Amino acid sequence: MKKEQLYSGKAKTIYKTEDPEKLISEFRDSLTAFDGKKKSEAKNKGYFNAQISKKIFEMLEDEGIPTHYISMVSDNEMLVRAVEIILIEVIPRNIAAGSITRKYPIKEGTVFKTPVLVMDYKSDEHGDPMINEDIAVAMGIATYEEIAQIRTMALKVNDILVKYLDKKGFLLPDFKLEFGRVDGKIVVADEISCDTCRLWDKSTGQSMDKDIFRFDKGDLSKAYEEVARRIVPEIFE
Ligand code: TMP
Ligand code: ASP
Repeated sequence: MKKEQLYSGKAKTIYKTEDPEKLISEFRDSLTAFDGKKKSEAKNKGYFNAQISKKIFEMLEDEGIPTHYISMVSDNEMLVRAVEIILIEVIPRNIAAGSITRKYPIKEGTVFKTPVLVMDYKSDEHGDPMINEDIAVAMGIATYEEIAQIRTMALKVNDILVKYLDKKGFLLPDFKLEFGRVDGKIVVADEISCDTCRLWDKSTGQSMDKDIFRFDKGDLSKAYEEVARRIVPEIFE
């Protein structure tokens, strides 16, 4: 059912299928950071991220959040709805970490009383600059109505994920969402995985996400495997 390659990104390759409304998203072991400037590979990374993403998409669908997920076609390949990606990275933040602590006088570890929603323009060439509604509308990448809907959806996903991950022994300082348009609707697209979330172990405070690679903090494959063990234990049976 997999046909020609449509697009190859930094961590996933997208293929056409015989149905123009469906695509296959292949999660690869390649790893990049800092707008592609740092590169590597990690064994089984694609597999673990695909399985974690699958489980989270299914859980969100159960909670009434539409996503692009349809089914798995192999261990690391996901059948998804073809959507028109909105070029905004939507980042709900619960605990200060990463770029927000570098750009503003906010100390790492500060717990936000209410989630802080950041929107970045998805463009490596421009270094993913922060945007707001007016800039997004001026660039013609989304309407005010769409952005309002995206904000509401992102905050709802955040609420669901914080509670879900807490039960698995993780804190969720922040994560990145992408949205797409399909059939006049907005759905969650791309992936929700160790590459796109900050996950801290609740008892040790250790990073169990791509910060391990960004800042050389240890064995990435081992940490991703541990996250998969807690979120998708069934794949280890
Ligand atoms: P940041 O602190 O570097 O802005 O990252 C915020 C969150 O977004 C973090 O959980 C990692 C995720 N992220 C991506 O998924 N893709 C990206 O390109 C960047 C920069 C961050
Ligand atoms: N995914 C981005 C890149 O490869 C940045 C990041 O996640 O740090 O450049």
